[in-house]
Amino acid sequence: PTLLDFIQRLPKAELHLHIEGTLEPELIFQLAQRNGIALPYASIDALRAAYQFEDLQSFLDLYYAGASVLITENDFYDMTMAYMRRAQQDGIVHAEIMFDPQTHTQRGVSIQTVFSGIARALREMRNTAGISSYLILSFLRHLSEEEAQTTLTAALALREQYADLWLAIGLDSAERGNPPEKFARVYARCKELGFRLTAHAGEEGPASYVRDALDLLQVERVDHGVRSEEDPALMQRLINDAIPLTVCPLSNLKLCVVDDMQQHNLARMLQQGALVTVNSDDPAYFGGYVADNYLACAEYLNLGRKELAELARNSLLASFLPANEKDHHL
Ligand code: ADE
Ligand code: ZN
Repeated sequence: PTLLDFIQRLPKAELHLHIEGTLEPELIFQLAQRNGIALPYASIDALRAAYQFEDLQSFLDLYYAGASVLITENDFYDMTMAYMRRAQQDGIVHAEIMFDPQTHTQRGVSIQTVFSGIARALREMRNTAGISSYLILSFLRHLSEEEAQTTLTAALALREQYADLWLAIGLDSAERGNPPEKFARVYARCKELGFRLTAHAGEEGPASYVRDALDLLQVERVDHGVRSEEDPALMQRLINDAIPLTVCPLSNLKLCVVDDMQQHNLARMLQQGALVTVNSDDPAYFGGYVADNYLACAEYLNLGRKELAELARNSLLASFLPANEKDHHL
């Protein structure tokens, strides 16, 4: 088989995926029309042409603008179904999906609408395609601790209703200037409530943010974490404690976290024994879904089929699936 076939056939989990980051320009235009929203772009191509980012913030500005076309339960359902069908093609057997309720509640969309549309699609794909999924409710770190607490309280009213899906908490948006310590109390509350914990750290922020995510937020997994290498003692700790890093190579390239793919440290961290995984982050914005990310690693980092299989295996090991379900896929 071709390398793409080989990659697509590896059973794998997607662990770092923002559902709002899967909104393709075509769907943004379709939803805008359906909801009577005017977009500041003349065409689908003009919107896609604007996807040239110089850093995380320049991306986030467009990502939040894109998400503003999501109004109804059906909009969230359609977005999630489109992603899940695409993930199925890439051999995803399990997806742990982040969503940002604050992006929507701030615009007057109810948190119930957000949960309901996403969950309906995930349950349908579980039942019809056998793809399992979990939801990671993520707080926007550029907003306040108090706003995170309010969002958590509102979401907890729906916990029973979505107990089959919502089991984890994440932290995303602008990293620099919004260190983990800002959310230490929110995370302590989430841990007390029994949620699994992850957080973005060490994407644009320094290695110390990765250390603080571990020590102050008690996360069990780190999203990105590519700057951990700047602190060798931290890197050794991640290796010794088998703390997974959900790395997103094409994202790092598009957001200028790395200057070119050949310089990405994913292969080096894998070689050193870190539990690294390959993920797509915001595939509609970064020009590739998960198999494209594996392909880029193969091409630019000289990873062979053995290493690609190891990365796929790592994704299942690093998932929040119970041990018996991991074994089933491995
Ligand atoms: N939200 C969506 N994608 C993100 C990323 N790569 N970093 C931080 N916040 C995000
Ligand atoms: Zn992310």
